[in-house]
This record gives sequence, C-alpha cells and structure tokens, in this order.
Amino acid sequence: MTFRRSVLSRRGFMALGGATAALGAIPGLAQAAGPSLAALAKAKGLRFGSAVSAGPPGSNTGTLDDPGYSRVLVDECGVLVPENELKWYVLRPDAKTFAFERADRIAAFAKAHDMALRGHTLLWHHPKWFPAWLQHYDFGKGPAAAKTAEGLLVDHIAKVVAHYPQIDSWDVVNETIDPKDGSIRHTVFSDAMGQEHTLDTAFHAARAAAPKARLVYNDYMGWEAGNEAHRAGVLKLLEGFRKRGTPVDALGVQSHLGTEDPAAPGSLGKPQEKAWRAFIDEATGMGYDLLLTEFDVNDRDMPADVAARDAAGAALAKAYLDLMLDYRQTKEVLAWGMVDKYSWLQGFTPRKDGLPKRATLYDDAYKPTPLREAVAAAFQAAPARA
Ligand code: XIL
Repeated sequence: MTFRRSVLSRRGFMALGGATAALGAIPGLAQAAGPSLAALAKAKGLRFGSAVSAGPPGSNTGTLDDPGYSRVLVDECGVLVPENELKWYVLRPDAKTFAFERADRIAAFAKAHDMALRGHTLLWHHPKWFPAWLQHYDFGKGPAAAKTAEGLLVDHIAKVVAHYPQIDSWDVVNETIDPKDGSIRHTVFSDAMGQEHTLDTAFHAARAAAPKARLVYNDYMGWEAGNEAHRAGVLKLLEGFRKRGTPVDALGVQSHLGTEDPAAPGSLGKPQEKAWRAFIDEATGMGYDLLLTEFDVNDRDMPADVAARDAAGAALAKAYLDLMLDYRQTKEVLAWGMVDKYSWLQGFTPRKDGLPKRATLYDDAYKPTPLREAVAAAFQAAPARA
C-alpha cells in the first residue's frame, strides 16, 4: 500500500521548495491515520479530490491561501476542482475578456503537487448564475440571433477548454433542469438558440476542444423525497442526449446530502432508496458513467450536540456512498470543500440555532471528523472498478 501523502510531500517539496516546506511545518495539524483518501480511492479505481478556491488576483482570500487547508488538500486529494474560478461570472467580466488568473493559480498548485484537475463548469445554464452583462445580452432576433449566441458560447468553450488541456473531466452543463417541474431552464442562450440546441452545442464544442475528456452533465437532484420531478427531468434530458447523439459521457450527481433547494422550500424529505436506485439504474442503463461531484453533508436539521451530529452525518454519508460506490460506473468522488469553516453551506440555509455546520471532512482545527472516516470506510468497502 502506497502512502500517498509522503510521496506527495516529497514531490511537492521538490517542486515548490520553500512554500511546501512551510506547509509541512504547520503546528497543531492532525493528519488522518493510515492511507490518504486519494490512495484508498485509487486502490478501487476511483479518483478522490476536492473543490478549492482562489481569491481575486493580489488577494489571499481563497482557501488555497490558507496553509492548513492546503496541507489537507495535499495530504488527501488526487484531483482538484476550482470552486468558482471557471464559472462565467468569474472568468468573463465582459464579452471580450477571459480572466484566467484565479483558475491558473489552482492549476499551478495542482501541478506542483502532482494532482489532476477537473473543470466546473462550462455552462451553468441557469440565468441566476450568468454575469449581469450576459443575463441581458441582446442577440437580436431570428436566425442571426441564433448564430451570434452560438458563436459566443462556442468561442467561450473552445478558449476555456484549450487553456486547460490537462483537464480530463469537465462539467460541461450544470443545473439546467428546474426542480419544480423537470423542465429545461430558459436563458438568453436558449431564447436565441432553443433549449436543446444550446445544451447540445455546449457538449459538441467541448468534445471538439477536448476529444479525450470525460464530458459530464451535472445536477443536484438528490435521493431525498421532494426530488421526484427533478430526477424525472434529468432522465428525460439524458434520454434526449442519447437520441440526438449528443456527446455526454457521465452524469454528475452533486451529492449535497440533505441540502434543500431554496427555490422549493419545505420539500426535503427522507431518502427514497428504491426510487433513487431506479433513477441511477436508468442513467447507467443508458450508458452513462457516474461522478459524485460536490459531496458534503448539510447538517442543518441534525442535533446540536456535536458527537450526535457527527454520528448522524457520518451514518448518512456511509449509507449513501455504499449505495453509489456499488455501481462500478461511479468513477470519481469530489468533496465540495474539505474544511468546515469554508464550506459554502455555512451561508446557505443556515441552522436555526445559528451553530456552525459540520459539513465537510475536516473541522476548523484541520482535524479529520467522523465524516472523513465514513468516506474512508466507504472507499475500503467499495468494489474495485477498471
Ligand atoms: C457554489 C460555491 O460553493 C459558492 O462559493 C458560490 O457562491 C456559489 O456556488 N452547485 C454547484 C456549485 O454546481 O457550483 C455551487 O458552488 C454549489 C451548488
């Protein structure tokens, strides 16, 4: 058994010299006992990693800038994914500019530490997440509008994918299904080009720019009751891709366990294991691989007591991961952040008692939590895959 952390530290040391030596010298950090999560995953043909953020150029406000956090990433991860840095609202301050600096920093860190890089996302097809200039972009009317819209979308994808030839797994389209009724969301692109044509165009452009990369449709339909329409809409979308020959290789299952959609409050219920398996069976039956792209546990409705909360979160995660890893089609597991205090869930649907959430694998003192052990145990129990 290879202990990836020592290999990484040595390689990282050679690549980064002083910077990595500083990482190694952080006092008070507790490393998890035994092999890293990357090594446990790799032993089963899986890839494990995390999202990470980089602040604006010249600032040190990203999680990448916290040495304790970087240490955890280096110790545990085989792949990194920029949390926001490849989204239009960061990359594209206007129609002409590509601001690659923030994502480039993450790419350089991954390279220095011999980690892979995955891409999120080429088209978050949800108007809320478009930069303001794009939300109101006037493509004009008729066939000319469709051509202009297509030009902007294809140019974006071609340039971004070409800038990161090392990315071998892309969330091409993110969250285009409306969980309320399973329909495809409308945006300026779909108004100009048509809904299906917009999504197909994105995948074809990604395939042309990265013929060997795994191309993923990513969404947050979950196993909890209340996700029925969302799941049905996603299956319909996946079926359409197959019928039209759209190059989509995998379904990205975000896996924000216990996270309610604020647009449909009150809908979140208990896990529906049978219905969920039927959903996954349908997707894999159409030939899609699976990726768990944004794993975390929203402990909003779990007990205040930390030990009880950790136990509940870990049990939920273990049951879910056991189910998902049983599918040999599951190829990657990405945590959506590795240290509680930086989790996006702290600000999203906060707990009623105001307590900070324990949503990730490491606590605020950079110590592994029972959730980390649940993930490790699930990897150990998982069947091997090619
Ligand atoms: C979130 C980030 O974590 C936040 O920092 C940001 O403010 C909003 O986006 N689904 C996704 C991710 O596909 O891109 C989201 O990330 C979380 C939900």
